[in-house]
Amino acid sequence: MAEMLLQVENLKSVYKTRFNERIVAVDDVSFNLENGKCLGIAGESGSGKSTLAMSIMGYYHPPLFYESGAIYISGIDIAKLPYNQLREKILGKEIAYIPQAAMNALNPTQKIINLVADVMKEHVKGITINEIKKIAEERFETLNLPKDVLQRYPIELSGGMKQRTVIAISTILNPKILVADEPTSALDVTSQKIVIKLLKDLLKRGFIKAMIFITHELPLLYNIADEIIVMYAGEVVESGKAEEIIFDPIHPYSHGLMNSIIVPEKGIKGKKLAVIPGAPPNLKLKLEGCRFFERCQFAKDECKNGRIDIKCANERNYRCVFGVEELKEMYEDDKKPATT
Ligand SMILES: Nc1ncnc2c1ncn2[C@@H]1O[C@H](COP(=O)(O)OP(=O)(O)OP(=O)(O)O)[C@@H](O)[C@H]1O
Ligand SMILES: [Mg+2]
Repeated sequence: MAEMLLQVENLKSVYKTRFNERIVAVDDVSFNLENGKCLGIAGESGSGKSTLAMSIMGYYHPPLFYESGAIYISGIDIAKLPYNQLREKILGKEIAYIPQAAMNALNPTQKIINLVADVMKEHVKGITINEIKKIAEERFETLNLPKDVLQRYPIELSGGMKQRTVIAISTILNPKILVADEPTSALDVTSQKIVIKLLKDLLKRGFIKAMIFITHELPLLYNIADEIIVMYAGEVVESGKAEEIIFDPIHPYSHGLMNSIIVPEKGIKGKKLAVIPGAPPNLKLKLEGCRFFERCQFAKDECKNGRIDIKCANERNYRCVFGVEELKEMYEDDKKPATT
C-alpha cells in the first residue's frame, strides 16, 4: 500500500475577529497525500485554500485558530503540537510552505545567496557560508537555474525567475512535502509552464516526496496534479483523480469552474466562456444546506436545508443531494437548445 505522508481528518479552522465574529474558513476538510503524488486544491477566491494551507503547516496564530480535527505528518498530529516542537521537528524538514505571493516578499536588500543562507542556518547547525554556496550552486545547476542568480538581488530578476528562485530556496533542505500556494498566479503563460516543470522536476528527482499545488484555475491542474480537491466556501465539494474531475466533473460547482475556462489548457478543448453567476455565502453566518445553493442552476428545495454529506461514487467524493446519473442528465439537458 502507498505510504501516506499527510492525513488531514475533519479539520476545522476559524478566524475570530475583534468583534467576536467567527469565520469558519476551513470546515470539516479531510484528505490524504501519498508519497510521490501531487494533490491539487482548486476553488474561487475566498474558498479557504490559503487557510487550509496555513492550517496544515500548523500556522495557528491569531486571528486564525484550530477548532477540531487532526493533521497527521509522519504519524504526529501536528495540530496539537506546541509551536516550538513544530518548528524543531516538522517545519522545513517534513513540510515546507511557499505562501501566496511569496516572490514579492523577498527581502530586497539581500542577495539571493544570503536568503538561501538564512534558510539553511536555521536548520543546519554550524554550516559555513562556503558549504551553503556549494550546496546552493549544485542545486541551482541541477534545476537548470543560472548560478549567477545567487549573487543577484531579487529586484534584478524577472517574475518567473523570482518564483523559480523562491521554489529552489524553499526546497533546498529537501522537505518531504511542499505546499505551493498559487505559485503561478501572477505569471504569464510561458513562465507558468516553466514553474510547473520545475515543480514536477523536484518531485521526479526526489528532492521532495509529495506536493500540494493550490490554484483558482482548475484546468491548470491537468498538467501537474494526480488528485484534486475542489473547495467551495470552506468545504470540499468534490475530490478524486485529476483527469476525472477535469474531464467529467460531478459537482455543479466543479462543472461551473470547468465551463469558465478562459485560456484552454493543452489537451483540454476550449469551451464557451461563462462565469458562475453570484457570489459565495458569507462565512460569518451559520450555513445550512448546500453552500452552493444560491448559485446552482439545478438547485431544488431539498438542497436548502440540513447537512449535505459527502457521497462516494467510484472513488469520487462529492457533496450534493443528487445522484451522479441524475446530475449527468441535468448537464446533458442543459446543453440542448431551448425548443420554444
Ligand atoms: N486574517 C483574516 N481575518 C479574518 N478573515 C479572514 C482572514 N484571512 C482570510 N479570511 C477569510 O477566510 C476565508 C478564506 O480565505 P482564504 O484566504 O483562505 O481564501 P483563498 O481560497 O485562499 O482565496 P484567494 O484565492 O483569494 O487566495 C475568506 O472568507 C476570507 O475573507
Ligand atoms: Mg489564497
